[in-house]
Amino acid sequence: MVEIANAIRFLLNGEEVTLTDVPPDLTLLDWLRLERRLRGSKEGCAEGDCGACTVLVGRLMGDEIVYDSVTACIRFVGSLHGTHLVTIEHLRGENGQLHPVQQAMVDHHGSQCGFCTPGFVMSLYGLWMRNPDPSRSAIEKALQGNLCRCTGYAPIIRAGEAMGTYGQPQGDPLWAERIAVAGKLKAIHDGRRVEIGEGDRRIIIPASLDDFAALYEANPEARIVAGSTDVGLWVTKFMRNIGPVIFIGHLQELKRIAENASEVRFYAGVSYSEALPVIAASFPELNELWDRIAGEQIRNMGTIGGNIANGSPIGDTPPPFIALGAKLDLRRGEHRREIKLEDYFLAYGEQDRQPGEFVESVTVPLLPAGEKFATYKISKRREEDISALCGAFRIFVNDAGTVGMARIAFGGMAATPKRAKAVEAALLGKPWTKETIENVSPLFAEDFQPISDMRASAQYRMLAAQNLLKRFFLETSGQSERLKREVA
Ligand SMILES: Cc1cc2nc3c(=O)[nH]c(=O)nc-3n(C[C@H](O)[C@H](O)[C@H](O)COP(=O)(O)OP(=O)(O)OC[C@H]3O[C@@H](n4cnc5c(N)ncnc54)[C@H](O)[C@@H]3O)c2cc1C
Ligand code: FES
Ligand code: FES
Repeated sequence: MVEIANAIRFLLNGEEVTLTDVPPDLTLLDWLRLERRLRGSKEGCAEGDCGACTVLVGRLMGDEIVYDSVTACIRFVGSLHGTHLVTIEHLRGENGQLHPVQQAMVDHHGSQCGFCTPGFVMSLYGLWMRNPDPSRSAIEKALQGNLCRCTGYAPIIRAGEAMGTYGQPQGDPLWAERIAVAGKLKAIHDGRRVEIGEGDRRIIIPASLDDFAALYEANPEARIVAGSTDVGLWVTKFMRNIGPVIFIGHLQELKRIAENASEVRFYAGVSYSEALPVIAASFPELNELWDRIAGEQIRNMGTIGGNIANGSPIGDTPPPFIALGAKLDLRRGEHRREIKLEDYFLAYGEQDRQPGEFVESVTVPLLPAGEKFATYKISKRREEDISALCGAFRIFVNDAGTVGMARIAFGGMAATPKRAKAVEAALLGKPWTKETIENVSPLFAEDFQPISDMRASAQYRMLAAQNLLKRFFLETSGQSERLKREVA
């Protein structure tokens, strides 16, 4: 029998917070600004895009604390149980001086109107804690999720390049206090489930994965919230009632990644950032795509399970995972079943998931030797943008130069992520040549009838899909360098 606690507890800067009555849809940014009067974190977009609300959230990883930059505007207060929340107000240097990161920003003119500045400082602070002397590309990556309308970014990047000369993390309070903070967080994680509120205001924070499975089976009407990078917008943009809510972002068992010689199993709660080292090592063809999913803060929050479970036709992980032949593990109570990932997506807004059933993991086969694989994301901005379309191509060309296997999957071309089965069938047994590509390309029209929307017209999507097949052919037939030079 799981014991139940009736309070959400976390650390806010240097203070312990206990909340016994908080609605499930209360955003961290509203709580900070309106209830705690901590107004350093700003609201620019309220949808995770601009980074003006960036704060750090520290969580236990074994005995250590890991601090992630997150967007407070789409994070819910209830999800903070057992974490250390660090806001811009916590930053200070020695003897009342500015913090090294703040001083670097001042000296390099990284702030003009100042609206975006707390968010940039927090993103740079998170980077400085991990890597005080970062490369330019590491700085650009850490700042992908921060927008500034005044500075043109160059002064901010110069501040990032110089911040290590202003001080090192060993002198920072977060470093000095990390053992004491870890002790306090461990005490909060006391093995009890947290439950507060009733009806739509009910918040449940399960004690374990098994506890979550049992709770969700018994309360199928509850809304699962993992990273809240989708659900957060339902609240801030659509004013939807999301309660009752089961928060699962803290469950370590859902953050496992299990690897063997032939496949990688990502449990549903693995964030994009947590998956990155395994993606880089086991699926290097997905490196560029991974780098282009959202910005750093959203990659720290958003989960692979959420990206699949939500059933979006434009999520970035389903196309490559479908092309690789991934399997999805669904669980309801103690009952588990495995389906092909592509079979999960039934129609727009409709997935093969029963009431009380959740996504436990996705298992992705490694690319067999000799096969070629690439995924291309087409979006208006390089980063921090949702795909207009995303195409994944996997092919085996045998010794005779003909296609022995082809799997092609797209997002953004239909109401669900979907394979291009007519094109795949037409490629089989054909020589892997430019003529073949030209002959099969019209068959995309049999596979897909894309729509026109704010991201792209139907005509653009169809032409881009055909051109991506051409690009894949050029790259896999040794012409990629030429292609890159032509585009540059
Ligand atoms: C600024 C911004 C940029 C973005 N850019 C991209 C991008 O480039 N590419 C992209 O693909 N997406 C992008 N997204 C969308 C989002 O980050 C992803 O879809 C994310 O992976 C969702 O995961 P989450 O954990 O945040 O889900 P949540 O918001 O917590 O949940 C989403 C849905 O999935 C359900 N759910 C979550 N976990 C489970 C589970 N284990 N089992 C069953 N149901 C579950 C929830 O109930 C909810 O219905 C972006 C979002 C934002 C705000
Ligand atoms: S206010 Fe823009 S990301 Fe939060
Ligand atoms: S300094 Fe004005 S928005 Fe960045």
